[in-house]
Amino acid sequence: MKDRLFDVSGKIVVITGGLGQIGAEFVKEFLRRDAKVAVFSRSANAQKAEKALTKEYASHANLLLTQADITNKESINQALDTVESTWGVADVLINNAGIDTQPSAPPEVSGPFETFPEEVFREVVETNLVGTFLMTQAFGARLIKASKGGSIIQVGSIYGMLSPVQDIYAYKKEMTGVPFIKPVAYSAAKSGIYNLTRYCATYWAKQGIRVNTLTPSGVWRETQDEHFHKNYHARMPMGRMAKADEFNGAVVFLASDASTYMTGSNLVVDGGWTAW
Ligand SMILES: NC(=O)c1ccc[n+]([C@@H]2O[C@H](COP(=O)([O-])OP(=O)(O)OC[C@H]3O[C@@H](n4cnc5c(N)ncnc54)[C@H](OP(=O)(O)O)[C@@H]3O)[C@@H](O)[C@H]2O)c1
Repeated sequence: MKDRLFDVSGKIVVITGGLGQIGAEFVKEFLRRDAKVAVFSRSANAQKAEKALTKEYASHANLLLTQADITNKESINQALDTVESTWGVADVLINNAGIDTQPSAPPEVSGPFETFPEEVFREVVETNLVGTFLMTQAFGARLIKASKGGSIIQVGSIYGMLSPVQDIYAYKKEMTGVPFIKPVAYSAAKSGIYNLTRYCATYWAKQGIRVNTLTPSGVWRETQDEHFHKNYHARMPMGRMAKADEFNGAVVFLASDASTYMTGSNLVVDGGWTAW
């Protein structure tokens, strides 16, 4: 029996940051399911795509690489024009692009709250919140103009639902003498996503545009410090970080008819992090 409930074949899906760690897994999953996928990112090009997705997916006939800066309205609209002239008005937007501060960052951008630089705070809010707002606004406006329903999926973070556990990063000071303090900017920006989602969900509910947040927890990367892994795993009920493809099921669910009665929600996929 063909799986109609989770079927996304033929859907036009825009994925911002689609060549990043989680985004690349989304792109491959939707291509495997015969969707048409447009990647929006500032440096989207064939070479980057091959590295992020492998040659097989990078040369897929249903992949469109589009250079777009989500903090710039004109750039967003140019990219959406390209999607429309190629395939038509898109069905699904996955607002996945974002910036974060890793423990390897210099102290100037990760220092204590009391002296945390205003320009860094503004930069992170500009990408993670304003960028998500601009993408949602431009995408939703086109759906309304076309009298078409759709699904918008905002990628949040456990650090937007809860404060980071600073103890996880304490190893940095023990090792280097300089503390790493997980910055406020990412948490504050990501927390705004949840009410942006609720606002747009209720605003567009009767027009058939669904808006939901997907909340991931930390993803394992080879470049992360072993002390970080040890501390993170100890805090995580499941005892491990996520693999980058472990959000695919949730994102397909939110994009497909399996979630037609779901809007304004937050789907948390976090190994149990927020459960205690
Ligand atoms: N990885 C995790 O542990 C984790 C945990 C919880 C939540 N999340 C969230 O999941 C999402 C994906 O995370 P990730 O770790 O996969 O990120 P990533 O590997 O750093 O990729 C993010 C992508 O966003 C794009 N981007 C950044 N600024 C942009 C802009 N102004 N315009 C267009 N594209 C932009 C970048 O591409 P260009 O440089 O080409 O523009 C980059 O490829 C983010 O929203 C993140 O906050 C991640």
